[in-house]
Amino acid sequence: MLNLSIASDQIARLSPQEKRSLLADLLRQRADSKTKPEILPEYYQFDLYPEYQKLKQQQQEVASLQLGNPFFVPQDGITSNTTQVRGQELINFATYNYLGMSGDPVVSQAAKDAIDRYGTSVSASRLVSGQKPLHQELEQTIANFIGVEDCIVLVGGHATNVTTIGHLFGQNDLIVHDALSHNSLLQGCLLSGATAVAFPHNDWQAAERILQDRRHRYRRVLIVIEGVYSTDGDIPDLPEFIAVKQRHKAFLMVDEAHSIGVLGQGGRGISEHFGVDARAVDLWMGTLSKSFASCGGYIAGCHAVVEYLKYTAPGFVFSVGISPPNAASVIAAIQLLQAEPERVERLHARARLFLELAQSKGLNTGTSQGSPVIPIVVGDSLRSIQLSQNLFRRGINVPFMIYPSVSQNGARLRFFITCNHTEDQIHYAAEVLAEEVAKL
Ligand SMILES: Cc1ncc(COP(=O)(O)O)c(C=O)c1O
Repeated sequence: MLNLSIASDQIARLSPQEKRSLLADLLRQRADSKTKPEILPEYYQFDLYPEYQKLKQQQQEVASLQLGNPFFVPQDGITSNTTQVRGQELINFATYNYLGMSGDPVVSQAAKDAIDRYGTSVSASRLVSGQKPLHQELEQTIANFIGVEDCIVLVGGHATNVTTIGHLFGQNDLIVHDALSHNSLLQGCLLSGATAVAFPHNDWQAAERILQDRRHRYRRVLIVIEGVYSTDGDIPDLPEFIAVKQRHKAFLMVDEAHSIGVLGQGGRGISEHFGVDARAVDLWMGTLSKSFASCGGYIAGCHAVVEYLKYTAPGFVFSVGISPPNAASVIAAIQLLQAEPERVERLHARARLFLELAQSKGLNTGTSQGSPVIPIVVGDSLRSIQLSQNLFRRGINVPFMIYPSVSQNGARLRFFITCNHTEDQIHYAAEVLAEEVAKL
C-alpha cells in the first residue's frame, strides 16, 4: 500500500497508475473507517470487563456488611477438626480432611521419604520421562482399593473430570447428568461438544425417561452422578442408575470426590455402601485432595479405558506426573485407612450425631442423609454470610455457600464433619448454631 501521508508535490510526480492506486487506497480507508466500529476499551482492558465490574459490585455488597472479606482467609497449621486464624483457634467444619489423613505423622513421613528419594517434582509428563515406580504403585493401590482393573492418576481433581469427559465423548454423543453436578463435570461436557442434558437431582427415573426418548439418536451415551453431593450431602441410588445404564447401553461415571474414604464400612465408597460390584460402573472418578490427603484426581475402571487415557488424554499426556510427595501420601493414606477402619466408623458416628442434633433443634438440613456433608439451609445469601461470620466470632469456622453455587433462595452453611471431631465439639457447635440461627 502507498504511504497516504504523501505531500502534494510528491503526488504530482506519481504515474497515472500510482495515482489511481492512491485514490483507491484513500477510498478504501474512508469506507473502512465508516463500517468498522471502534474497539471498546472493555475488549482490551481487564479492569473494564463487565464481568469484572459485576464481581466488584458483589464484593461491595459483602463489604457493606462490615464483616471483613470472608474469602481467602489464611489458616495456619494443619486443617483438621480445628484450625488457626490470626492466632485464634477455631473448631473447624470447613475441611474435606474427612479421615484426618492430612497432618497424620505416618502420611507426612511417607511424603518426606518420597521427597528424599525422588525430589519434589517428577519434572516431566509421565509418558516421556516423568514416570516413577511410585506412580504404578499408586494406581494399583487405588484400583485394588476400589475393586476394578486399573487406574490413571492426574495432577488435579477438576482437571481429571474436564479432560476425561472432554476426551472420551464428542459431538454425536449424549451426556445425561445430575442437575447438581460439580463444575468440573459440566466443564468436561462443554469441552466434549456432546449434547448435555440435566435430570432433576437424584431422579434416576427422569434420567431413564431422557434415555427412552433420545438414546437412539446418539452414538455413545454417558450418565454422570456423584457418590455424595457436596452441596446437599445426599447419596444417589446407585443400583437404580446401574440398571438404567444397562437397559440403555450407556456408560456410567461416578464422581467420588466426597464419597471415597467416606461411604461404606471400609471407606471404599458408594459401591461398598450399596454392596454392588465396582465393575458395574464404567468410570470411577475421585479426587486425592479430600480423604486421601493429597492433590490430584483419578479415573479407575477397566484396563482399556485407562490405557487409552494414558496414551491420549491431553490433561495427562501434556501435563506433568503427580509429584512424589503427593503420590506417596495417597498410598500411605489408603494403607492407614485399611489398617484403621475405625476412622471411617468414627466419621459416620460423628456425622450422625451432628445431623440428629441439628434436626432436633429444628434446623433445616435439606436432604442430607448418611454423609459427613451437612448443610444448614438459610435461604438468603447475605444472611448466610452473616451467620457464618457470627459463628466465627464464637470460635466455629464453617463456610457458606451462596448463589450461583446454589439456587437464589438456597443459600446455606455447609458443615463438613471429620473423624477427628470430638463429641464435645459437635455438641457445642450444634448448640451455638441453633442460638445464632434464632438471632438472625
Ligand atoms: C464433586 C467434585 N468433583 C471434583 C472436584 C475437584 O477436585 P479438586 O478440588 O481435588 O480439584 C471437587 C472439588 O471439590 C468436587 O467436589
